[in-house]
Amino acid sequence: MLKNILIALSILSILSYSIYKWIASLPKVEFDESVEVNWRSGEKLFWGKGRCSVCHRIGERGYALRGPNLGQSKDGPILSLRARERAWQLGLASSTEYLVQTIAEPGAFVVPGYNNEMPEVFKAPIFLTPAEIKAVVLYLKSLAGDTTFVEIRLPQKLLASYQAEKKPHDEISGDSTAGRLLFFDLVGPAACAACHTGLNSAGKVEGSTIGPDLTAIAGFRTPEYILRKIINPDFNIVSGYTEVVIRTKGGRFLVGVIKEENKDNLQLIERNENLILVSKKDIHSRMPQKLSSMPSNYSDLLTQKQLDDLLAYLVTLKEN
Ligand code: HEC
Ligand code: HEC
Repeated sequence: MLKNILIALSILSILSYSIYKWIASLPKVEFDESVEVNWRSGEKLFWGKGRCSVCHRIGERGYALRGPNLGQSKDGPILSLRARERAWQLGLASSTEYLVQTIAEPGAFVVPGYNNEMPEVFKAPIFLTPAEIKAVVLYLKSLAGDTTFVEIRLPQKLLASYQAEKKPHDEISGDSTAGRLLFFDLVGPAACAACHTGLNSAGKVEGSTIGPDLTAIAGFRTPEYILRKIINPDFNIVSGYTEVVIRTKGGRFLVGVIKEENKDNLQLIERNENLILVSKKDIHSRMPQKLSSMPSNYSDLLTQKQLDDLLAYLVTLKEN
C-alpha cells in the first residue's frame, strides 16, 4: 500500500517537475506598461519612436515617399479601407489581421510597386514593444475614423522574437571620426557622399541625394544590415531606387530610376542626375534591374579597419 503511494507520489513529482520545466521553457513575454494601448499613443509612436514616418506618410501629412502612403493618395484609398480588400484577397479573417500582418511579417505580402524592405519594427534598432505595436495598429485603424478600442492579438512568433532580440548587440570597434572622413572624402576609396547625405563634423547635412539619405540610418537599420549593404548591396534594394533599362523604338538604351509615371509619359532620373521625359509611345521595352546601383566592390576597395571605421560613423546617425 505504502509502496504504491510512494510510487504514485514520485510519478506525480516527476510529472509536475516536467510541467514546470515546460512552462519555464516557454518564451517569457513581458509587457511594457509604460505605454497605454490606444490610438493616441499609437499616433505618437508612428511619428516618433516607431520610425514609420521615415518611410510612410498619411495623405498630406509627412514627407516620406519610400513606402506606400497610408492615407488617401495615388497608392489607393485610406489604409483601413484597402486593408479590408487585402484581407479578403489574402484569405485573412479581418482588416485588423492584415494590419497586424504588415508589422508582424512585412514580407508576407509586398505591396505592388514597392520592394520587400520594411524592417521588422519589433527588433533592433526600432524595438517597438508588444503594447506599442498594438497602439500603432489602433492608430492605423483610426485613420478612417474608427477609434473604438478592440483587443489586438499579436502572433506568438512576434512575441517570442521580440523577447529573443533583447540581448545587446556587439560593440562596434571602429573609429567614427576616421569613418566620417572616409564617408565624405570624394577622392578616397569609399566616397559615400558622392551618392548619399550624412552629417558632417559640424552636424550639418552634406552630400548628394542620388541615393537615400543616411542621416538617420541607424535609427531604423541594424549595424549588421548597414555593413551587409556596403559589402553586398544587391541583397535588398530600397523602394523607389530600382533601376530600369529602357530600350526605345529608335534603339537607344536609357538607364535610370523612374521618378514619376502617368499613362503617356514617364520621368527618368539617369545616374548622372539628369532628368529626362520619355514618351511611352517611344518605348520598345523596359526591364527592372535586380542589381543595386551602389558600387558592389567595397569589400575589395576597403580594408577591414576602414569598414569598421565607416560602420562606427554610420551607427552615430540615429536621428534627424
Ligand atoms: C525603412 C522603411 C520603412 C519603415 C521604417 C516602415 N515601413 Fe511600412 N512599409 C515599407 C515598405 C517599403 C512597404 C511596402 C512593401 C511591403 O509591403 O513590404 C511597407 C508597407 C507597409 C504597410 C502596408 C501598406 C499597404 O498599402 O497595404 C503598412 C500598414 C506599414 N508598412 C506600416 C508601417 C508602420 C506602422 C511602421 C512603423 C511602426 C512602418 N510601416 C515602418 C517601408 C517601411
Ligand atoms: C554610386 C552611388 C552610390 C555610392 C558611391 C554609395 N551608394 Fe549606398 N546606395 C546607393 C543607392 C542608389 C542606394 C539605393 C538603392 C539600393 O538599395 O541599392 C543605396 C543604398 C544604401 C543603403 C541602404 C539605405 C537604407 O535606407 O536602407 C546604405 C546603408 C548605403 N547605401 C550605404 C552606403 C555607404 C556606407 C557607402 C560608402 C561606402 C555608399 N552607400 C556608397 C548609391 C550609392
